[in-house]
Amino acid sequence: MKNKKQVLTIISLLSILLILSGCGKGNTVATSEKEIIRIGHNQSQNHPTHLGMLAFEEYIESQLGDKYDVQLYPSELLGSQTNMVQLTQTGAIEMVVASNSILETFDKKYEIFNLPYLFESKEIYHAVMNDPKIVDPIFKSTKKSGFETVAWLDAGIRNFYTIDKPVVTPDDLSGLKIRVQQSPTNVMMMKLFNGSATPMGFGDVYTAIQSGVIDGAENNELALTENGHGDVVNYYSYTKHQMIPDEVIVNNKFLENLSEKERKIFNKGFKILEDTQHDTWSDSVKAAKEKAENEMGVEFNYPDTKPFREKVQPLHEKFLKENPSLQPIYDDIMQKSEKLEVGGTE
Ligand code: GCU
Repeated sequence: MKNKKQVLTIISLLSILLILSGCGKGNTVATSEKEIIRIGHNQSQNHPTHLGMLAFEEYIESQLGDKYDVQLYPSELLGSQTNMVQLTQTGAIEMVVASNSILETFDKKYEIFNLPYLFESKEIYHAVMNDPKIVDPIFKSTKKSGFETVAWLDAGIRNFYTIDKPVVTPDDLSGLKIRVQQSPTNVMMMKLFNGSATPMGFGDVYTAIQSGVIDGAENNELALTENGHGDVVNYYSYTKHQMIPDEVIVNNKFLENLSEKERKIFNKGFKILEDTQHDTWSDSVKAAKEKAENEMGVEFNYPDTKPFREKVQPLHEKFLKENPSLQPIYDDIMQKSEKLEVGGTE
């Protein structure tokens, strides 16, 4: 068993090396003369993130196509998100989409957006993420680790989905093995819900549910359809416990080597990527929900979120105690919430 695992790891590493050396995607003469920009993400080719990336590719190549060849690697082709972040750190690839969750291990500032029930509505979430005063210090904090965030992508609202019973009260999570992303905040959140947190990469979740290794997971609706999780779970419960953005991170050296003119073009490309992804998000979620309900037989539930919120509130206090320098940013978010008033999340 162990040997088989080792052989599989070696094979996947070799495939990544082959892809990165240019054998993966039509290694034409034209390509080898250009600078290749390799972009990895873990979503399918129908996902808003991939649609955003296609728009980015088109724009950059329309402006700088004689110099750069943008190559997209969706669906964890270059490995798990954690692996891809490491590849971006070293400059083996230029750009990757990483959940904000896993970035908190690089700088604690990112932790703030992983706090459960931080945002009261989608409007507040977007207003905060679009405020450079709030996000810039966080996005630049990972420069010391070799990369920075240049755009944020919508990853919707995270809710629990389970095999055997719906999650209607926090007690329903008691003792359940729930997959979470590999982040200390998410593990602590599950502890406060009395569940058993099982951290693993996104690509392993389907098999873990199917084989009964876990009782469920938590994510936005697209995981049900784009990743097929709706085939192996029966209930999706709107606990609305997190709105965690995805961050587009880019290798420092790549950015530093751009001329001023190129940097302007790239900045516009990042904005096009962000806008396209955001604009396609709501329709994709709506379609996913319809498909999961009508074709995959998933039952949707709408619990009262207040008892869930109360259970995990200690995480906010703990965060502020450990990161006093982020109190002003936290207060700014709370102030925005008051100003925008509490709107219902979709
Ligand atoms: C969402 C998010 C991904 C993340 C995934 C996960 O799909 O967009 O970036 O990897 O959740 O739960 O791991």
